[in-house]
Formats: sequence, structure tokens, C-alpha cells
Amino acid sequence: MTETISYKEQINTDNLPEHIAIIMDGNGRWAKAQGKHRIFGHKNGVKAVREATEGCAEIGVRFLTLYAFSTENWNRPKTEVSALMELLFLTIGREIKTLQKNNIKLNVIGNIQSLPESNRKAIKEVMEATKNNTRMTLTLALSYGAREELIEATKAIATAYKEEKISIEDIDHQRISNSLYTKNMPDPALMIRTSGEHRISNFLLWQMAYTELYFTEKLWPEFSRNDLFKAICEYQQRERRFGKTSEQINEQFITNNLPKE
Ligand code: IPE
Ligand code: IPE
Ligand code: MG
Repeated sequence: MTETISYKEQINTDNLPEHIAIIMDGNGRWAKAQGKHRIFGHKNGVKAVREATEGCAEIGVRFLTLYAFSTENWNRPKTEVSALMELLFLTIGREIKTLQKNNIKLNVIGNIQSLPESNRKAIKEVMEATKNNTRMTLTLALSYGAREELIEATKAIATAYKEEKISIEDIDHQRISNSLYTKNMPDPALMIRTSGEHRISNFLLWQMAYTELYFTEKLWPEFSRNDLFKAICEYQQRERRFGKTSEQINEQFITNNLPKE
């Protein structure tokens, strides 16, 4: 029997990624491997959502963003799209207790208007009920596409310019970040994608300019809390240089940790 390493104890809580984003992929393949329909995989993916959410909250991650449905996913067979929308509706309603118990605030990013009315209503209710929760913000990316998000931001900035509220010089990093759906969030420090696919699939293109990327072969329904902790441990082994040299980073670390006079 192979022994599973427990990663939680190895996490350095002084160096947690403030924001983790996850591309939850592989539900269909997981179901197919057992001779089941793809939808069976989506249903079993809900357990992994709970594992990741509770795991993040438990160790002190402040923001978790889960990619649940992309703008491109609308092109899937109609039966799968409606099953996903129904599952989303049921899950949001069912998970409210877990969110309240764990003091987690629900947030949604994406083209919400394109979702069925029942889903919009359920989302609104849960967002309202959890708006004062402070431990962690759980963001669901629903009908989300980073290119659409950038188009919307560009339109908003162009309108502000046309109405003479801003000048060309006002268009900077901050202005663009503040025009995105994620305006109140830090950029993700760590992005995890399951199922062995090594791509971004139109997720947080602007926000992930300096995100650490972590890919695992695990399929989403089998992704556990320990897998999440393992990804965080690997993240903590990395040196985030942001264009600087390793020497500069180490020097900065020493200066920041010198005893205060
Ligand atoms: C991710 O699993 C869930 C959604 C995109 C909604 P997939 O449904 O993409 O599963 P695979 O990639 O086909 O295995
Ligand atoms: C990305 O998964 C979107 C979500 C996880 C919601 P996909 O399975 O749709 O990605 P591609 O199309 O294979 O890249
Ligand atoms: Mg997929």
C-alpha cells in the first residue's frame, strides 16, 4: 500500500497565496472512465469544490476563484449545458449553509445576464445573504471569458474618455484592473489546473500576467484537500522574481526581515 503524504503541516502560513484560481477540468473524462455519462462527472465535481473551498478557508487563503463555466462552454451539447445550469442552481442553494458556517462571501464574475433567470435569482440571494462574511471570498467564474471581460473594460474606458471623465494619460495598469470584473481582488498568486491540460482557456488573461501556474494530472472530481495543500507547498518552493534577479529578491528579503530599530 502506498502511504499518502499529508501536506497541510508542510505549509508555511506566512507565505500563503492570497488568491488562488482554479480551472476545474476533467469531469467528463472521469465519468467516461467509469462508463458513466459526462454529467455524472459534473455532479461528482461538487465534492471537490467543497474540498477546495473548505481547504482554502481552513488555512487562511483570502480569495478563491473557481472557473465553473466558460463563454466557450455554451457551445457544448444543449443537454449538457442545461444539466450544468441545473446543477449550478441546486448547488448554490444547497451550499449556502456551508458558506455561512465558514464565514465565506460568494461572488460571481462573468456575463451573468446570459445565465437562466432562476440561476441569476439564486446567485443574487446567496450573494446578498453572505455579503458581510469576512473570512474568504469565493468567486465563481460563470459564463466567463477573459476576452469578453477585456472588451467590456475597453468599452467602459472608451465611454469615460468620450464623456471627458478621463484623459488618455489616465489609462494605466490601475485603470484597466479597476475596469475588470475582478476589480476588488488581488491578482491570483497561484493558478491550478486539473486533468493534465496545459492551457489557460480564456481565464483571467490580464490578471494572470505574473501568476504561478500549477498543473496536475488529477481529474477534478478526484481533487482533494490534500492535493490543494500539495499545490500550495510547491508554490512556496518557487521564487517569484517579477523580472528582477534572484540576488535582488534575496537582498530584499533580508532587508525586509532586519530587526526594527
Ligand atoms: C470541467 O470538466 C467542467 C466544465 C468545463 C464545465 P469537463 O467537462 O471539461 O471535462 P473533460 O475535460 O471533458 O474531461
Ligand atoms: C475550461 O475547461 C473551462 C472550465 C473549467 C469551466 P474546458 O474543458 O472547457 O477547456 P478547453 O476547452 O478544453 O480548453
Ligand atoms: Mg475540459
